[in-house]
Amino acid sequence: MGDFTQSAVACQNGGFILNTKTTNTGDGRLVTIFGGGGYIGPIVAKRLLSFGYHVRIVDLFLYGTQNIMLGLFDEPGFEVLNGDLADSSVVNAGLDGATDVVILAGLVGDPITKKYPEAHDAVNETGIRSLIDQLNGQSLQRVIFVSTCSNYGLIPEGTLADEDYELNPLSLYAKAKVGIEQKLLSLKGQVDYEATALRFATAFGLAPRMRFDLTVSQFTREMYLRRDLLVYDADTWRPYCHVQDFADVIQRVLEAPAPDISFDVFNAGGDNNNFTKRMIIEAIQKHIPDAPVAYQAHGSDPRNYRVDFKKIRDRLGFTPCFSVEDGIKELIRALDQNLFEDAETRANFYGNYEINYEKP
Ligand SMILES: NC(=O)c1ccc[n+]([C@@H]2O[C@H](COP(=O)([O-])OP(=O)(O)OC[C@H]3O[C@@H](n4cnc5c(N)ncnc54)[C@H](O)[C@@H]3O)[C@@H](O)[C@H]2O)c1
Repeated sequence: MGDFTQSAVACQNGGFILNTKTTNTGDGRLVTIFGGGGYIGPIVAKRLLSFGYHVRIVDLFLYGTQNIMLGLFDEPGFEVLNGDLADSSVVNAGLDGATDVVILAGLVGDPITKKYPEAHDAVNETGIRSLIDQLNGQSLQRVIFVSTCSNYGLIPEGTLADEDYELNPLSLYAKAKVGIEQKLLSLKGQVDYEATALRFATAFGLAPRMRFDLTVSQFTREMYLRRDLLVYDADTWRPYCHVQDFADVIQRVLEAPAPDISFDVFNAGGDNNNFTKRMIIEAIQKHIPDAPVAYQAHGSDPRNYRVDFKKIRDRLGFTPCFSVEDGIKELIRALDQNLFEDAETRANFYGNYEINYEKP
């Protein structure tokens, strides 16, 4: 039995049983996941399907990831709709018969939003806002907007940001997330669904669409390949979370009693996965001690935040199953089997680098 399985089994007390259908909690609900065709979405879809939900993914596959839908295609209750959420007819079709909505879609990350500000505006601002404007009166139960812990930006050393901590978004990407959170949460009492904003930590973990532009996976792969790795601002903190744990969080929000999640915001992650970049490097070095790593101060990304995950633990009983170390070991096992041989030739599949977006 590999470490991955052991880790999942060790987590059963937390309610996480990997790929094992235990109960039919979905009970025929149809969850439409906007932006479900990227890194995190297919993992969420697979988990919900395995618990008896129906799932519809709406995505325009900005990074050419449409073929990963084939892995879900023949699952009972799964549908895919290839289209742009900025097109209201796509949204209408996406909402047809849906009981719940999860919004993962967007231009994700600081670099891609900086590189394509017009597309960022059309999708992350106007597009998501008009999507939200169409959600009322559709008999939806839950609407989950996936935001980011990047909203905290830069906080003083030794401080932990809980959900009430002052937001300090430093990028276009995070500023849009803060604005959408505020819009959604301000709709309390005016709409017929329960809305929740989840501030996700930075993701790691294996998925059909890996993103090697995210720290844990990027560092692990670079070091595995013994490439010279230059690490900027090694002592800056950031929280991390495995994609399987994010799927667990989404399911918990879908199934929690309404008063526990209604028009509320949660940091999504776990206290023990607050890591500095240096700590990540040291965790990788346990497995790959001979990888060349150098450190440099004053990089271009000033973000530095440690996050408090008490609320999601107390209210929803969520603690992550997977540590950063679990994610590193899992990725090394996949790299050992050459599963990412095409990472260079299909760089844009494996990272958010280039898009060709036209407004509908
Ligand atoms: N990955 C992380 O580390 C991380 C951390 C915090 C928050 N999040 C949030 O989680 C969500 C998912 O992240 P991810 O890593 O899976 O990103 P991703 O870039 O892999 O996936 C986003 C998906 O949205 C789709 N999309 C973009 N614009 C669209 C549009 N106009 N219509 C329909 N689909 C559209 C893209 O094609 C893509 O498949 C995002 O909202 C992101 O902000 C991610």
